[in-house]
Amino acid sequence: MAEEVKLFKVTIDNITIEVEPGTTVLMAARRIGGDVAPPAMCFYSKLSGSGGKCRTCLVEVSKGSEKDPRPMPKLVASCRTTVMDGMEVKNITSDRVMDARNGVVEFLLINHPLDCPICDQAGECHLQDLSYDHGKEGTRYEFKRRTFEKEDIGPYIQLHMTRCILCYRCTYVADQLTNSRVHGVLDRGDHAEISTYISKAITNDFSGNMIDVCPVGALTDKTFRFKNRVWFTKPVDAHRDCPTCNGKVTLWNRGDEVLRVTARKDQWGEVQSYDGKPGWICNTCRFDKKKLSDWVIDGPMNVARHSVISANHYVGAVKPNETVAEVMGGRQPKLLMDIHNISDVNDPDVDLSKVNGAPTGKTYESTNKQ
Ligand code: SF4
Ligand code: FES
Repeated sequence: MAEEVKLFKVTIDNITIEVEPGTTVLMAARRIGGDVAPPAMCFYSKLSGSGGKCRTCLVEVSKGSEKDPRPMPKLVASCRTTVMDGMEVKNITSDRVMDARNGVVEFLLINHPLDCPICDQAGECHLQDLSYDHGKEGTRYEFKRRTFEKEDIGPYIQLHMTRCILCYRCTYVADQLTNSRVHGVLDRGDHAEISTYISKAITNDFSGNMIDVCPVGALTDKTFRFKNRVWFTKPVDAHRDCPTCNGKVTLWNRGDEVLRVTARKDQWGEVQSYDGKPGWICNTCRFDKKKLSDWVIDGPMNVARHSVISANHYVGAVKPNETVAEVMGGRQPKLLMDIHNISDVNDPDVDLSKVNGAPTGKTYESTNKQ
């Protein structure tokens, strides 16, 4: 009979749980969930060896273990620290941690451009979320930010090195999912950058997963770049019978148009697992199957309530009865409130979707009678 494993008790932010020996503090905190789980910019549970690069997951260990209750003198990276029996950890309950995390975010933003308004990752960027929670309104950095030329990594992926935070996740994907890694971190320190060796293209069938693991907008899908803001799209879960991968994806649609295909993500922003295996998707599903008829729709994606993507995506919403018409003796409300009938300024015959750029007074000049 297999020997029963003795579980370790660990208390994180005053909540105690029992976990298997060898579990990291970060994974234990994720089991508790919510704000107790530290943010992680470089750790990715489905990529072995990841973590330990960004320091956003720092926590305070206020009691080492039952046997040795001394606190750890320095804050530790929770993604690389395994729990001990009786360990006590502070995350959001520690001022030291909050202070350090604010500092880490300030460092991450030293070179990162604040180009969220034009970045494809906006709305689903982990650094953007982190900056909202821990960032400062200004920078104390007085030097020029480092900049790079955009680089095509294969036919479907573009690298915006300027936005890269050197988390190494994409190199682990290339190492662990593809059989020939041809890109990596070149140089060190201030000069470190992700690049391909001798500009080799990454054409492997699973290379597109690098886009999904990138926590910022450094690796973008060339078939989706600048097509739409992510919160205007409608994400639905779908599947197809794929000979290469499991075929379970999220389609990001606008009307009947499939703008983007990604792997399905879990609440930590990582690809979902099926039967214990990560649901990485192949490049054919991701880049070539852009028709609704290629897919069997499973239903709307479960969008986290706090996410900007959830705006206007109400599942099962019941519309209240329209009562204005009733009290106005049958007259429809638009007869009362149609601004075009009243102002004579904006011509309702101008089709805004056909206007190039933002509409201005000139857009209406030819039809304006004033
Ligand atoms: S390109 Fe993205 S995934 Fe790769 S190291 Fe930079 S931030 Fe990380
Ligand atoms: S997530 Fe732990 S160091 Fe980056």
